[in-house]
Amino acid sequence: MTPKLWGGNYETAPDRAFWEFGASFPFDRRLLGEEIAASRAYARALGECGAIPREDARKLDDGLGQVLERAKMVPGYLELDVEDVHSFVETRLGEIVGELAGQGHLARSRNEQTVTALRMFVRAACDRAAAALAGLVEALCDKGEEGAEAVMPGFTHVRAAEPITFGFWASALAWGFARDRQRFQDARRRANVLPLGSGALAGTPLPLDRARLAAELGFEAVSPNALDAVSDRDFAAEFAFACAQAQTRLSRLSEELIWHSGPEYGFYRLPDAYTTGSSLMPQKKNPDALELLRGKAARVQAAVQRLLVMQKGLPAGYQKDLQEDKEAVFDAADAVLGSLPVATGVIAGLVLDRDAMRRAASREELYAASLAVALARDGLPFRQAHHVVGALVSAAQVLKRPLREIARERLRAQHPALAARVDAIFDPDEAVRAKSTEGGTAPETVRASLSAARATVRG
Ligand code: ARG
Repeated sequence: MTPKLWGGNYETAPDRAFWEFGASFPFDRRLLGEEIAASRAYARALGECGAIPREDARKLDDGLGQVLERAKMVPGYLELDVEDVHSFVETRLGEIVGELAGQGHLARSRNEQTVTALRMFVRAACDRAAAALAGLVEALCDKGEEGAEAVMPGFTHVRAAEPITFGFWASALAWGFARDRQRFQDARRRANVLPLGSGALAGTPLPLDRARLAAELGFEAVSPNALDAVSDRDFAAEFAFACAQAQTRLSRLSEELIWHSGPEYGFYRLPDAYTTGSSLMPQKKNPDALELLRGKAARVQAAVQRLLVMQKGLPAGYQKDLQEDKEAVFDAADAVLGSLPVATGVIAGLVLDRDAMRRAASREELYAASLAVALARDGLPFRQAHHVVGALVSAAQVLKRPLREIARERLRAQHPALAARVDAIFDPDEAVRAKSTEGGTAPETVRASLSAARATVRG
């Protein structure tokens, strides 16, 4: 057990098992870069406001820079039996600047430090997630443009419902991921508020220039209440939710890609680079990448739950429970940031099978709704038209004859013009072209929607 940041009023050392149980250094060492950046800015601020001599501030600032250097260069440098990353930094700083190291902590509390570092981590993770999501949206738009005319069935209740195009499907996903990106940008705004200068809970008696500290550390604002600043973890829960929504969408996408790339549908082939073989069955190319994207949704959703339940019973102020925040945040961030490039690679590498899609989109039932709408536009009240077409579908099934033939025969008497253009209604290309109002399947409409989605992630 190396020196602690406290102990003046203690006669015994902490119980060993409790020490190991309570130490956060095994995981909060990930915040070393953030912790040192914040500590350097704080040391400078102490010098600027006259709380310590400027020369001491400079020594602290330089010494902290050296700690970071050594952490990168010296093997085993992180192997110190300390309580947390804050204790690590102060201990290592002491090896460089001696007793002065403690002055860097003047009027400062780990309660504000830990949340400052975590906010910096979350901010950077939001930026990375937003950039990765922009990449995924671009890949969906590229593929979508490639398949803007490729008709395929669209599904409801996992049953083929109406014809759409691959591009239309890709555009739907692109818009979802574009919103996920905005969610990270929103979460970043609320995370990007500086707690430093809050002390343990009540603020600082030093005339620190907090606005300048914030600017130096890239924060947009300073926290307006010290007690709130050390208690608040909603920025962490919000970040985890942004991760969870994105990962959940990845999971849904994966589920669909797994089915539709399999032999039963065969709408497209997955790139080999994202599948693995079977040790027994030589024919297999398993969609492991997609299965993991789907599987990881469990852990990211759990992170939201962890962060909410952790906060649930806590009064205002720092409580050690809050130390549990970090692993949940790291876990959510790692899963999403690891998943997004993989999903992007899968989408970019899809090989479309236009014939398979078209075959599946040619099933006659998929055109029943269009036929009902056409009948209604020919004068029949829509509910009746719906009923009439339902009866035609049923007759086709019973007689085992093509729906379009039945329709042609039975509509001829009362709707001769419509009966004559039944083939057009059952034509997949016509069907998708007919939906040219904004948001519909017409290839031109889809192209416009794809470029609008692209524009949102380029802005
Ligand atoms: N390691 C703690 C955390 O991660 C910060 C230390 C605050 N500890 C304290 N006893 N006030 O939350």
